[in-house]
Amino acid sequence: MCNSVVPKTNAHECDGKLYLPFQCKIESVQELTRTEKLFRLSRKDGKPFGHKPGQFMQVSITGIGEAPISVSSSPTRGDYLELGVRKAGTLTNAMHELKSGDEIGLRGPFGTFFDTESMKGKDLLLISGGCGLAPMRALIQYVEDCRKDFGNVTILYGAKSPADVLYQSELEQWQNSDKLSCQVTVDTVSSGTCWDSNVGLITKLIPPLDINADKTVAVIVGPPIMYKFVTLELYPKGLSDKDIIVSLERYMKCGVGKCGHCTIDHLYCCTDGPVFTLDQVASLKGAI
Ligand SMILES: Cc1cc2nc3c(=O)[nH]c(=O)nc-3n(C[C@H](O)[C@H](O)[C@H](O)COP(=O)(O)OP(=O)(O)OC[C@H]3O[C@@H](n4cnc5c(N)ncnc54)[C@H](O)[C@@H]3O)c2cc1C
Ligand code: FES
Repeated sequence: MCNSVVPKTNAHECDGKLYLPFQCKIESVQELTRTEKLFRLSRKDGKPFGHKPGQFMQVSITGIGEAPISVSSSPTRGDYLELGVRKAGTLTNAMHELKSGDEIGLRGPFGTFFDTESMKGKDLLLISGGCGLAPMRALIQYVEDCRKDFGNVTILYGAKSPADVLYQSELEQWQNSDKLSCQVTVDTVSSGTCWDSNVGLITKLIPPLDINADKTVAVIVGPPIMYKFVTLELYPKGLSDKDIIVSLERYMKCGVGKCGHCTIDHLYCCTDGPVFTLDQVASLKGAI
């Protein structure tokens, strides 16, 4: 049973400069799909980012604006930070025009994180859909790098179609790994498309799993519709809301608990979240 209380933000630790972006160099840009790119960044001042899996950064481009983007790489991989960014609007469109060598501003890291301390010794069921693999990837990398700290690790990932599958080469590595189990599914495959994995909703992958509810923590990150139907499959396996960790998205402005744009009932998604245990938010109107 997971007794994790999701840790509070360490926003106050980020140089004491909550509102002032620090400059980063784009080390590389990798196209993941037609609409998503992966940016690897280093700080120009050489300082560490100090991020934890589950946290987000406020990405800032002068004259354009800011947007919250989840950290997609684990701090165990070194002093760089990766962001998987979908083209969605003003800031992210501008970001997709940037090349390696260009500069970008960041604030953060902000928000709560996946509490890997309280996950130690547990079996992990890591379920993500669509863009939700971006923050989940940071946790998966962390778990890979500290593998002996955790029990069985099962990764489930769902995308709309084969063309929408993110981090394809890493998913292949995880599927071929003898240290963890990984299944990928897509909602639909159009005729003529080569796809030799599962087809159907991610919820179909859960009933056949052998889950020891007494020592399992489930983590869910994905589009809003996914949370309800995935949790409905987890309850019959014996998991309860305190064993289930979710990461929620809300429209954000400041990212540091000042503007009130991101409220979920009495909670601020940016500082009380984005990572919550389900029992923190399940009863709040509109949370899930
Ligand atoms: C904690 C967190 C983590 C995130 N992580 C990622 C990530 O890893 N990768 C990623 O690609 N995205 C991520 N997002 C989503 C990303 O922040 C949004 O897509 C963001 O809006 C993009 O900014 P933009 O300027 O490009 O788009 P915008 O120009 O802001 O437009 C994006 C969409 O938001 C709508 N919108 C604009 N203003 C408002 C408003 N006031 N209220 C409601 N809707 C509005 C627009 O109509 C449009 O549909 C994350 C969001 C949060 C909160
Ligand atoms: S984004 Fe301003 S309070 Fe959360």
